[in-house]
Amino acid sequence: MLRLAAPTDPAWPARALAHLDELLLDHAHLEKKAAGTAVTLLFRYPERRELQEPLAQLAREELAHFEGVLGQLARRGIAFGRQRAGGYAGRLHRVVRAAEPARRLDTLLVAALIEARSCERFTLLAGALRGVDDELAAFYAGLLAAEARHHGAYVQLAIAGFPEDEVRARLDAVAAHEAAVLAEQCEPRVHG
Ligand SMILES: [Fe+2]
Ligand SMILES: [Fe+2]
Repeated sequence: MLRLAAPTDPAWPARALAHLDELLLDHAHLEKKAAGTAVTLLFRYPERRELQEPLAQLAREELAHFEGVLGQLARRGIAFGRQRAGGYAGRLHRVVRAAEPARRLDTLLVAALIEARSCERFTLLAGALRGVDDELAAFYAGLLAAEARHHGAYVQLAIAGFPEDEVRARLDAVAAHEAAVLAEQCEPRVHG
């Protein structure tokens, strides 16, 4: 189950489809960023044994998704290149507390929320793309299970290192923050 505090605006899929090339470019960067987050955590917390294999596997899967999006960009004839950072991730990370171990808990839960929102939005995209670009619709439908699993994996990694009631309470707070940040976005992005 995805622990999102608010569902996506029903107007979002039409907005996304109207800017599909930009959305795909954003998505490619997002998958690369997701792999980078997992690798950053591996470098930051080598002493946290429970994080190592799950995050190594997650990083590999995100890079495979990245390659998948690059394939979709090539198929649609869209050039890939540098992209300006969106506002979502930066604003989302403001909820992360500076001092350890709270920083580790909050970083895992922010990652869990990003995965949950991606999963929700890929579900919407898969539906909206049917009959528009069936190959792309199938591609998004194929990503759903992995992103839902990544959401669960980050929550479980938090529970492996912190009391479960503390994780649940903090997850609710981070989810409320995520919904508020998302409500301010209006760009053609996966988290726009
Ligand atoms: Fe992914
Ligand atoms: Fe993911």
